[in-house]
Amino acid sequence: MIRVAAVGDLHVGPDSAGALREQLSGIHERADVLLIAGDLTKGGEPEEAEALALELEGLSVRVVAVLGNHDHHADRPAEIAGLLREAGVAVLEGDAVRIDTPGGSLGVAGVKGFGGGFSGASGAEFGEPEMKAFIRHTKERSEALGSALASLRTDVRVALMHYAPIRETLQGEPPEIFPFLGSYLLAEAVDRSGADLVIHGHAHRGTEHGVTPGGVNVRNVAQTVIRQAYAVYGFETATRRRDPATSGRRPPVQSFRRG
Ligand SMILES: [Fe+2]
Ligand SMILES: [Fe+2]
Repeated sequence: MIRVAAVGDLHVGPDSAGALREQLSGIHERADVLLIAGDLTKGGEPEEAEALALELEGLSVRVVAVLGNHDHHADRPAEIAGLLREAGVAVLEGDAVRIDTPGGSLGVAGVKGFGGGFSGASGAEFGEPEMKAFIRHTKERSEALGSALASLRTDVRVALMHYAPIRETLQGEPPEIFPFLGSYLLAEAVDRSGADLVIHGHAHRGTEHGVTPGGVNVRNVAQTVIRQAYAVYGFETATRRRDPATSGRRPPVQSFRRG
């Protein structure tokens, strides 16, 4: 089994030093990899990313992350990503990473994503340049996600993003702000290229479980939604090998059949 731990919206600041490290201790006993679905920092300041990098450096599992809107707030996203990469984190934006685990190969395609809304209530690339730029950004990021997913040849493929691809996992948020929480274009990209799971964050008051129109499971892992250090999702693969370290593993692990 491939075991994927995921959490989003950590919103780390210099004042939260130490807390995360403790929450993540022993994670290798429960998961093969940790995915972080954006909003790593409070306000996108490099010192906040440094605090997070210290917490993640030398962690017992590989860490893969995308940035969120908060990580862009200080207009220094490249510095944020660079600091995390120095600590060994794979920071994705329209690209993918392959991780070989005892249970099979895992591919993660990542993108921040953006807003625009959902079918029947979405923005269009029309009118003022600002509106066109807004929707064009979502289209470009969705296409980048689709290409990254399509490039993967792994037993299991996960799409990692910050913004939501469906409205189902936003339930709990005011409907008036749905267009700022995600876009159906992200789900369309996932359904076109195929994936086994979508992980996102951003909607702090949303709902964990949903499914894209094409039938791909979606999980909102914002920490306030999952109410734990991280959620763990397991994939049974056709190339499954016996791994004594994982037998007798304790729940909660949500398992998906694959292959
Ligand atoms: Fe957030
Ligand atoms: Fe966010």
